[in-house]
Amino acid sequence: MNTVPEPTADLDQLFTALSRWPDVQAPNLFAADAADRLIIDTCAQSHSTQDQPWPASITIVGDHYGALTLGALALGSTQVRVHTDSLTARRAIEANAQKLLPQLTDRLSFYTLAQVADQASTILLALPRGLDVLDEQVAALASSATPTARLFAGGRIKHMSRSMNEVLSSRFARVDVSLARQKSRVLTASNPLAEQTASNFPATAIHTVRGTSFNLHAGAGTFGAARLDPGTRLLLEHLPDLCAHATLVDLACGNGSIGVYAALTHRHLRVDASDHSASAVASTLAAAEANEVSERITAVQDDALSRLPENSATLITLNPPFHIGNTVTADIAFKLIDDAARALTPGGTLLCVFNSHLRYRHELERRIGPTTQLARDKTFTVTSTIKL
Ligand SMILES: C[S@@+](CC[C@H](N)C(=O)[O-])C[C@H]1O[C@@H](n2cnc3c(N)ncnc32)[C@H](O)[C@@H]1O
Repeated sequence: MNTVPEPTADLDQLFTALSRWPDVQAPNLFAADAADRLIIDTCAQSHSTQDQPWPASITIVGDHYGALTLGALALGSTQVRVHTDSLTARRAIEANAQKLLPQLTDRLSFYTLAQVADQASTILLALPRGLDVLDEQVAALASSATPTARLFAGGRIKHMSRSMNEVLSSRFARVDVSLARQKSRVLTASNPLAEQTASNFPATAIHTVRGTSFNLHAGAGTFGAARLDPGTRLLLEHLPDLCAHATLVDLACGNGSIGVYAALTHRHLRVDASDHSASAVASTLAAAEANEVSERITAVQDDALSRLPENSATLITLNPPFHIGNTVTADIAFKLIDDAARALTPGGTLLCVFNSHLRYRHELERRIGPTTQLARDKTFTVTSTIKL
């Protein structure tokens, strides 16, 4: 265990000024936390112990709102290469950089995971929720980083497990664990192993709903990976006839299960799918191809439906998210429901599935219009809402 120096004032000020926009904002939701600070301090200490300056070139994976990215810029990095799966996170990082460090934004660029891993030498990583996602990230980093690369991966202790150390140890020669500070910890991994085992992702699975079979083909960062969410299954089992609609907007498409099933069962239908997650978009496109409906399905990264004008969609489907990162919150569901309300044409329909205990039916009525229950089992409720 290593000790880590206390924070200095400037970064504290920078972190306080960070905004979550365009992500959900609420008094109990923050743009930076003690883990971000500990990642930066552990990296700084590791360099100073070896008489090295803060690195000019730095790789950042999974930053949420810019704490790691702007922290690295403020400390003097001249090449900050960032990968974040979420478009919402990328927009927040860009907005914060524009507002708080406008003179340094030309030092910042965004890449796919494979691109950012290439020749990475100092890597700051905000630990993800899932071990599979961590392994996917670490596999990409360890196989393409420099032989002397150092990875500083941190999180809140309540969201960390010993299995995370094992994931890192399976791909790096050495892993050190920092002391806890402000309920956070950093795992420092160094020297990627020359031999890397393949990641288990993308995963594939075949599902059958009401006699229609389809393949899912998904990355670890996609909600549920290649599994069919039980709520989504209930929605598909009770999907109404969509003959009156030319296009289905599959909001927060995840692995593409709703769009692919709808396209297979309605041969005239075009599907306009989107998700904030790059992994989800790639999974949806892979599922469309595997089920030979690519010519009728598009999938793009979007924050809610920001690309769609008001009153432009006659039919939207949504299985709303219930968390942002590690924080469980209904606010993200309401953000997507409100944007669906904006994008729907008057008389347009939102088909939605949610955990029954969440009682979203009232919110759908209040935020969009008359809502009827299409199905309900012991866990989930499926509704149809018409915009007034
Ligand atoms: C419960 S999953 C549903 C996925 C898929 N539709 C299904 O039924 O399996 C919720 C999805 O919301 C996406 N999501 C979360 N925040 C989002 C945002 N701001 N904009 C767009 N999609 C978002 C997540 O990436 C996730 O894929």
